[in-house]
Amino acid sequence: MKELINLIDKHLDEYLQIVYPEDIFKAMKYTLMLPGKRLRPVMCLETARVLGADINNVMPAACALEMLHVQSLIHDDLPCMDNDDFRRGKPSNHKVFGEANAVLAGDALLTFAPQLIIEKSNGLTAEQVLRILHEYTKFAGAYGLIAGQVVDIESEGGKLVKTPEETLDFIHLNKTAVLFRLAVRIGAIAANADEDVIEEFDDFAKKFGLAFQIYDDIMDEISSFEELGKTAGKDKNSGKLTYVSLYGLEEAENKFRCHIKECYGIIDKYKSDIFKEILDKLSQRIGSK
Ligand code: IPE
Ligand code: IPE
Ligand code: MG
Ligand code: MG
Ligand code: MG
Repeated sequence: MKELINLIDKHLDEYLQIVYPEDIFKAMKYTLMLPGKRLRPVMCLETARVLGADINNVMPAACALEMLHVQSLIHDDLPCMDNDDFRRGKPSNHKVFGEANAVLAGDALLTFAPQLIIEKSNGLTAEQVLRILHEYTKFAGAYGLIAGQVVDIESEGGKLVKTPEETLDFIHLNKTAVLFRLAVRIGAIAANADEDVIEEFDDFAKKFGLAFQIYDDIMDEISSFEELGKTAGKDKNSGKLTYVSLYGLEEAENKFRCHIKECYGIIDKYKSDIFKEILDKLSQRIGSK
């Protein structure tokens, strides 16, 4: 996985060149190039690989996904959202570049990502690119990630339209799972996979995304700044609706294990060391019961 991450980092650096006006490109590149886990591009490329595609053809779309993810992190940390001063072990984007540039850097990453897919995906057909862009716009916007973030923020004030359980799953599926779904779907589309295979990976990513956000909720409660590279204990302080606040730590851990087990079950037949490594790493930290 380390090699794949290095390859992704090299392409991210190349794709995003700093030109005039440098301030905006520096702000975009700052959070992008800090050491993230690169889970979304890795999962995108690995899905493409196990389904028989050349990963070089998918690299622009995989890097675009990381840009979309980083946009969501920059905006998520703003004072009007989660008001978080640290990200990836360093001061948040707005702490370094100011709020206006952090908003603009997020907007610029969100729009540069599809530009990159269009300009650099030479190894994909026009039909594949169009479908990838359709999925990108659907999952990134108010039918996906933004819907999750809006309900996440609304939930802080206890303003719920649905039951807490339904609301929480809506938040986690939208703010988090959609990007993993988008990652595997893009990989599968690039490999010209059958629809039932795309749906199988989608189902995997939905369960993985839920598990991943439950993990993040648990870490916010039990972990430290040193381990996370972002402020711990924020969810409780801001009154967020999370798996820990609704179900308690132990039940959140049980639900996490249950989703991870299902993930192993779906992905096993593809014999992917990378997917196994991702699942192993996450589950080791929580421990078995
Ligand atoms: C953070 O995602 C946001 C959540 C969905 C919890 P990651 O934990 O993947 O963040 P990076 O990319 O490694 O910084
Ligand atoms: C993650 O939600 C979802 C997005 C950033 C879109 P969180 O607000 O829990 O993520 P962290 O904990 O700040 O990384
Ligand atoms: Mg948030
Ligand atoms: Mg946050
Ligand atoms: Mg969190």
